[in-house]
Amino acid sequence: MATASHILLLLPAIVALTPSTLAASPNPNLNLHQLLQLLGFPPGLIPDPVEAFTISPAGLLPPTFNFTIHFKEPCYVQYVYLNYFAPVFTGKITFGKISGLRGHKNQFPSGEWIDMYDVTVVGQNLVFKFANATVTYDRALFEEVKTCTDGPPIADHSNQHISNKLTARMN
Ligand SMILES: *[C@@H]1O[C@H](CO)[C@@H](O)[C@H](O)[C@H]1NC(C)=O
Ligand SMILES: *[C@@H]1O[C@H](CO)[C@@H](O)[C@H](O)[C@H]1NC(C)=O
Repeated sequence: MATASHILLLLPAIVALTPSTLAASPNPNLNLHQLLQLLGFPPGLIPDPVEAFTISPAGLLPPTFNFTIHFKEPCYVQYVYLNYFAPVFTGKITFGKISGLRGHKNQFPSGEWIDMYDVTVVGQNLVFKFANATVTYDRALFEEVKTCTDGPPIADHSNQHISNKLTARMN
C-alpha cells in the first residue's frame, strides 16, 4: 500500500523519467497506469490507448507534477457516466489529488457534457469535482484499465471560463 512517505522515496525515480524519455519511448520504464498507482490512484482512472504522456515537476512539498496526456483522437469511455478525453488532456497530480484538469468531461444524465476539475482520493472512494457537481464513487470502479473509443471532438471550454459563468450566475 503506497503512502505519502513512500512517494517521497519514489520521487527521484519519477523525476529521472524526463518528459522526452516518456514521450519518445513506446515502452517507458513507468507507464501511466503505474504512475497513477504510485500516486495513490487506481490504474484504470485513465483509459488506453494513451499515445504519449509527459510529466514535469511543478513543486516539491508535496511532490507535484504537471502532466500532459495525448490521445490520438478524441476518446470516449464509460465508467459510470460516459467520459470524454480531448486529444490533449492536462492537469496537475500529487499524492491522492489530481487538479486543474483540462480536456476531460463527463456526460451527465441531463445529456450535458460537464468539465471535470479535480479528483481526490478519500479512503476507498474517489471524489470527482465537476464545474457544477461533486460525485463520489468507489475506487474499485477504476481498477481495470479500459479501452476508449475514438469519436467526435467536443468544443473546449476552459475551467476558468465556466467558473466565471457560474460565479456570474450566482451573483
Ligand atoms: C504547471 O502547470 C501550470 C498550469 O498550466 C502552470 O501555470 C505552471 O507554470 C506549470 N509548471 C511547470 C513547472 O511547468
Ligand atoms: C450544470 O449546469 C447546467 C447549466 O449550465 C445545468 O443544465 C445542469 O443541469 C447542471 N448540472 C448539474 C449536475 O447540476
